[in-house]
Amino acid sequence: MKPKVLITKNLLPEAMDYLIDKVDFEIGSSGKKITHQEIMTKIRDKQGLLCLLVDKIDRAVIDAAPRLKIIANCAVGYDNIDIKYARNKKIMVTNTPGVLTETTADLTWALIFAAARKIPQAHRFTSEKRFSGWELDLFLGKEITGKKLGIIGMGRIGKAVAARAKGFSMTVIYNDPNRLSKENEKQLNVEYVSLNNLLSTADIVTLHTTLLPETKHLISTPQIVLMKKDAILVNVSRGPVVDEKALADALEKKKIWAAGLDVYEDEPLIQKKLLSLDNVILLPHIGSATYETRLKMSMMAATNLVQGLTGKVPDNLIS
Ligand code: DGY
Repeated sequence: MKPKVLITKNLLPEAMDYLIDKVDFEIGSSGKKITHQEIMTKIRDKQGLLCLLVDKIDRAVIDAAPRLKIIANCAVGYDNIDIKYARNKKIMVTNTPGVLTETTADLTWALIFAAARKIPQAHRFTSEKRFSGWELDLFLGKEITGKKLGIIGMGRIGKAVAARAKGFSMTVIYNDPNRLSKENEKQLNVEYVSLNNLLSTADIVTLHTTLLPETKHLISTPQIVLMKKDAILVNVSRGPVVDEKALADALEKKKIWAAGLDVYEDEPLIQKKLLSLDNVILLPHIGSATYETRLKMSMMAATNLVQGLTGKVPDNLIS
């Protein structure tokens, strides 16, 4: 008999085809997002759960699933899962590391450029037929080439962002609880500095940290006041790493020049003030959203799930 699995929402078709003869799956939702209550109801008789980063897998869900062996998250971040509790219950948890590194680094750069050169604002202006000819001071942005980039969180994605900075002749500084080896720093051409030093000297600050209790509101008013008045802040990690209200206030008062955000504290809600500001670029959490990458993530999550349910150690076991 095939193991019973709950897939909270359809994966890309190739991954569903891979799963079809391996597990007996129920799809949580074909349209809107599955609710927490629906997950709790549908998980009762399941041995596997394949979920997305928007699905909160807390104690209540885990307690509602007495037969559960594995939670395969289709995301690299897993702050949506109560890992400790799953571990206590001897439930495996997996994620999808590596495959979204380059895609997310690309989007970081898209946000840097969009914010620095006011691309969305200029597009809106042009498509609204307001362009009436070249002007010397039309949409004046900020230079990127030769500037100082500050990377907070030098994991896989932070490193990929640093590698791209070479193409723009930038100085790159970074902060991370785990300092890189001297060889790695040399190879990437990056310098380790304290968080305060990074914030007060970088022209562009990008965030790539994992969301942990200690990184919640890592960037709030005391950190923002350290930043240069013409600095750009980009967040592609997790929303709660930034105190969104503090950032909105700072942008409104022009304490920093601009921000580019792909993630929010309480997604899909966004601080109302941010929606009306012209110095922030807002994206709907699309850091890894290319067809190629989402396919790799889907296949990786599906493979982890099947491995866990067939007695193998999943390739991407977190705990
Ligand atoms: C992840 O996998 O954690 C990303 O946020 C998805 O884009």
